[in-house]
Amino acid sequence: MKISATSALVLNWTAADVWHSPQAAAYTKALDLSEGSGLLSVFDDEEQYMHLNAVSNRKHFVRAEAMKFIEEHSDTDEPQVLVLAAGIAPLSVDIAALYPRAKVFDVDKYLMEDKERFLNNALPNISFITADITDTVSLNGELKAAGWKPQGSTIAILEGITYYLPENDLKHLLQFLAAHSCTVAGDFGVLPQLVDEHNRHIGLQLFQKIKATIGLENTYNYDPKYFIDLLTEAGFTDAKRVLLSTIQQNFRGQIEPFEGGEPCWISMFSAKPATG
Ligand SMILES: C[S@@+](CC[C@H](N)C(=O)[O-])C[C@H]1O[C@@H](n2cnc3c(N)ncnc32)[C@H](O)[C@@H]1O
Repeated sequence: MKISATSALVLNWTAADVWHSPQAAAYTKALDLSEGSGLLSVFDDEEQYMHLNAVSNRKHFVRAEAMKFIEEHSDTDEPQVLVLAAGIAPLSVDIAALYPRAKVFDVDKYLMEDKERFLNNALPNISFITADITDTVSLNGELKAAGWKPQGSTIAILEGITYYLPENDLKHLLQFLAAHSCTVAGDFGVLPQLVDEHNRHIGLQLFQKIKATIGLENTYNYDPKYFIDLLTEAGFTDAKRVLLSTIQQNFRGQIEPFEGGEPCWISMFSAKPATG
């Protein structure tokens, strides 16, 4: 499977203990991350340390949100997890392995057929869907064709994607998910000027270095309050952000290296359907 340099970078910055199933460990081990080595080499030790913590932390959060949702809905029906812009990430593999009754849908513009072939039907409760998530009409059709039941219970994961979507596309996608009573969890980029000064350069350098090394489209960052309002306006309730310091405390038992009031260039969020 041909893995892009940025995907390889993210996987290089994911601690092994984020995943708990043997299937996710085996899948991760089998991936060829060599495409990312050139890009990885432009980051110094401090940056590598910060990104290892930020990416592992964000993956820990969305995984925990998906698991909490499945456990809360497992008595009543078949819980569904939409991993939107999943790429080659192991999240679907871990969740599907740990919860065989859950239905997991990996959606991306690219590599879904390769990922499906690579996994060789080891986990029949994952469906792989090639779709542009900003085209919600076609997304809806593809999801339904793959067996998604919109009237059932669904959590949609938006990890590592909101910074690449123009705001109107993001709003449109959020409205679609809210209208189908999905719970959502994911991350968003924080406006650099709002990030605490001691960590601000790490986030700024991240996008600059990726741009300079392999080219990168525009990215979109938000004032956290504005982002949470977007969720509410799209039709969600109980929209909240979770700082990386809070997640780090739960995951690692300490807030370091996310000290401060706005410690990171990304923040996590979750929200519930107004109708659910
Ligand atoms: C940075 S990767 C994140 C992958 C994974 N969610 C993670 O966090 O590790 C961004 C992914 O978004 C996908 N993507 C970007 N725009 C998309 C769109 N409009 N529809 C579907 N996938 C998209 C890319 O193909 C890529 O796999």
